[in-house]
Amino acid sequence: MKTVPGVSCVHEGISHVLAVFLKLRELRGTDAILDRILLEARKICRAEAGSILLVKEDRLVFSIVHNDFLFSADGINKHLYLNASVPIDDFSIAGFTAKHSETLLLDDVYALPRSYPFKFNPAFDKQSGYHTRSVLSLPLINFQGRVCAVIQLINSLGQDNKAVPFPEDSVACVSLLANHASACIENGMATSELILRTIRMSELRDPAETGPHVQRVGAYSAEIYHRMAQESGLDASEIKRRKDLVRMAAMLHDVGKVGISDVILKKPGKLTEGEYETMKRHTLYGAHLFRNSASELDVMAREIALNHHQRFDGKGYPGRVSNIEDVDAMTVGTMAGGDIPQPARIVALADVFDALISKRAYKEPWTMGMALDVIRKESGQQFDPEVVSAFLSILDVIEAIRGKYQEAG
Ligand SMILES: [Fe+2]
Ligand SMILES: [Fe+2]
Repeated sequence: MKTVPGVSCVHEGISHVLAVFLKLRELRGTDAILDRILLEARKICRAEAGSILLVKEDRLVFSIVHNDFLFSADGINKHLYLNASVPIDDFSIAGFTAKHSETLLLDDVYALPRSYPFKFNPAFDKQSGYHTRSVLSLPLINFQGRVCAVIQLINSLGQDNKAVPFPEDSVACVSLLANHASACIENGMATSELILRTIRMSELRDPAETGPHVQRVGAYSAEIYHRMAQESGLDASEIKRRKDLVRMAAMLHDVGKVGISDVILKKPGKLTEGEYETMKRHTLYGAHLFRNSASELDVMAREIALNHHQRFDGKGYPGRVSNIEDVDAMTVGTMAGGDIPQPARIVALADVFDALISKRAYKEPWTMGMALDVIRKESGQQFDPEVVSAFLSILDVIEAIRGKYQEAG
């Protein structure tokens, strides 16, 4: 069992919190920000597990979950895609925290006084074999004074690594972190919201590019990247930072479709050869949208938009192009294998896989077995074999992502 090293006294805790704020400023996406906040909050009070639930309308949605007893925070696991939420009301610990904006310090959740309106829900413990004992539940308040999230820390570990009540002096430090964390979370959510708005714009044009489709492609790509980066021995914090960029950039893979006419995008039948040639230009238009940018996210978004239809064997499009700064760029040769940027090789598989298992206007969804057969058969031809093998090694996570981001209706 891995344990979180603690930050013992209040003074140390405060300087730790200040250092965390500096690190948080380097992160762009909500997932990486939440992950970091939870990890640092857990360090303050040696919490073995925890979660952050974000307020979405009148519910709290589990958005990040850590549990060192059940899984490593640095690993790839399906629990990160837990599709669960609780109402904001008096009856659950998190719901009560959000509704009343109150911090709860509970020494043993299985022995709560009967006078408390909320109860502990033992479902996760029963299912996983974990035993929750002490809980510290705090509201995260945004600049408008509203609760935007709840952070729950579980089982503070004592000297012998047994769960003990949370030390009262840790509450002040975690509260300080929580108060400032809400601004970072809102920044991350603003970036995600901006990306989703851009995607909604392309969804208006191309009905196949739905919000859930791009969220799935983003999440599949991030997890495949994580596995490949782990295998290449990259440092865990660098993996998390880049993983978040991959997720966001992958979501933007088809934004270049805004440059394609409705006559082609919404044509019910097969495209003519000329129309197909025009359609292929969405890769160039996408790259053009992110031109001249120095930001890491934009550079990756450009690589993915341009190259997500390249094939590993060099038979994809647009191939090597003359000058991507030019919206009328021309193909000047083929592009194959390792010359295709790695994030684009990953998105190529994630996008095709999702299209195969989804219902489209022209086809019913394929079964998982049929889709996996195609992916295996195309390893080394359409897809990078290393991407295929990373994808096949995380199928439980892929299934969890499918479960989390489903089409509406
Ligand atoms: Fe595309
Ligand atoms: Fe797509």
